[in-house]
Amino acid sequence: NKSFANISMAVIRRLPKYHRYLKELLDKEIYRISSKELSRLIGFTASQIRQDLNCFGGFGQQGYGYNVEELYNEIGKILGLDKTYKLIIIGAGNLGQAIANYTSFEKSGFELLALFDINPKLIGMKIRDIPFRDVDELEQFTLDNHVDIAVVCTPKEFAQGIVDKLNEKNVKGIWNFAPTDLKVPKDIIVENVHLSESLFTLSYLLNEREIENNKQE
Ligand code: NAI
Repeated sequence: NKSFANISMAVIRRLPKYHRYLKELLDKEIYRISSKELSRLIGFTASQIRQDLNCFGGFGQQGYGYNVEELYNEIGKILGLDKTYKLIIIGAGNLGQAIANYTSFEKSGFELLALFDINPKLIGMKIRDIPFRDVDELEQFTLDNHVDIAVVCTPKEFAQGIVDKLNEKNVKGIWNFAPTDLKVPKDIIVENVHLSESLFTLSYLLNEREIENNKQE
């Protein structure tokens, strides 16, 4: 197993986008691309692309460009997408169910085992054959089943209490949607997703443009 621990987080955050565009190229049976063309497609500068891809060995060849398939596979490996992961969702309301209904994660190797909720009305139901379970069963379930990732979709006031029931022996990562910063043992990795941060960035940009436009009038 190669280690990519020295790649900066800024590069890592760009890799999923490369991965997505390279997949689109492969689907169109395009097997070779220059950094310039890739730049036009993705919107990063050609020099940024060369720099990013050089971080892990540089697949480009002068005058040839990049081998799309090789690059796609290598980025997939760096992102750990050559492996499979078992997921559970905790908090099976609007958001939890939306994620459970989304089938594309499975195609990338993320298999949902169960949804956990406190609401007795939900328990026993299924989404795509995946059962809703009582949150009281959470600890035992994670001991009996190999779980890699817990997806936290409860109201924020319950999120920490739930996470406290998990430890590095029963989950490795937490994909946190609750708008709160979770405290976890050091061996558990948390990745937060906050749609509002992205939305507020958009509102900033809209306002910024309005100010610019007003200046020009
Ligand atoms: P919801 O109210 O539809 O669902 C919450 C679910 O959690 C309910 O089914 C409830 O029974 C369950 N629940 C409550 N306490 C629990 C516990 N102790 N153990 C297990 N389950 C429990 O709410 P919605 O809209 O699905 O939002 C869920 C969370 O996601 C909220 O914290 C919300 O703020 C957050 N959210 C985050 C977004 C993001 O971008 N990160 C976007 C939308 C929502």
